[in-house]
Amino acid sequence: MGFGVTTMKDQISRLENEAKEELARADSFETIESFRVAYLGKKGKLTELFKQLGTVSAEEKKSVGAELNRLKQWLEEAVEKGKGNVPQANAFRETFDETLPGVQPPKGSIHILQQTIQEISAIFNRMGFEIVEGPEIETEFHNFTALNIPLDHPSRDAFDTFYTPQGQLLRSQTSTVQIRVMKDRKPPLRIIAPGRVYRPDTVDASHSFMFHQIEGLMVDGSVTFSDLKGVLHLFLRELFGAQTKIRFRPHFFPFTEPSVEVDIQWGKGWLEILGAGSVDPNVFQEVGYDKAVTKGFAFGLGVERIAMLCHGINDIRHFYENDLRFLRQF
Ligand code: PHE
Repeated sequence: MGFGVTTMKDQISRLENEAKEELARADSFETIESFRVAYLGKKGKLTELFKQLGTVSAEEKKSVGAELNRLKQWLEEAVEKGKGNVPQANAFRETFDETLPGVQPPKGSIHILQQTIQEISAIFNRMGFEIVEGPEIETEFHNFTALNIPLDHPSRDAFDTFYTPQGQLLRSQTSTVQIRVMKDRKPPLRIIAPGRVYRPDTVDASHSFMFHQIEGLMVDGSVTFSDLKGVLHLFLRELFGAQTKIRFRPHFFPFTEPSVEVDIQWGKGWLEILGAGSVDPNVFQEVGYDKAVTKGFAFGLGVERIAMLCHGINDIRHFYENDLRFLRQF
């Protein structure tokens, strides 16, 4: 049936011309999209021609089918290309309502322990102390020996934490950083070292196997015990207020001599806040300083303790549980 074929082929070429003209005029995402629906959609013009393929004789079906497929492919490519060329803003504007309120991403905040470390560091910064850090996995040398704590010293018990098979351990005090800095540098030194420490302690409301300390160290040829008193006095008044009363009590630490514990007046009583003292000459010797002429002081304080006092927190475990109801208060 030659007639049917001619008609089909005519129809196809007419449709092709029509489509080309129409597409040349389509200059927006929307018009190209309606063009696509008009030709390639379920009831589109080309789709209708495909449906007529059944009426074409068997011997001509192949060439007509090929023509239809060629046009279909051309149309699909033209639509694709056209959509890529027009400004997308038109399509976007249809679905984007700029007057609606946006989605607010959840906002985090700085952990109260970190805030406390920053507050304390800022006070010492103003007095010229530089902030340094040391590793949490330490050698026995930095954690004990260099700090004048011999192998058989009883105070090791409270400091014996987790050892690695290589004989290193989780540091039990930030005093390790004193040793690292002094071995690295020459006086004068003024540093503070915040960080985590570990203890073989059973967890309860006031103990944790991990907590935070801030170590302080000042070294040069003329540092005296009065400098220690002056610096700590100023620090504690900055932190707790100008009226704060302070008390120095004699104490013992292997790496300072003389040593003190420092209390602040709290209500009717006194509260221990930190440990301190003049650096023991044996420590200077361990790090290779001349112990006859080097002078210095060191101190160490517990961050959790101070945060608990400042904010009325009654259980140390709150710091580590990541309960947002607790954390959001600060
Ligand atoms: N390292 C001591 C402790 O953890 C504190 C301290 C530091 C004391 C420096 C004196 C000097 O208890």
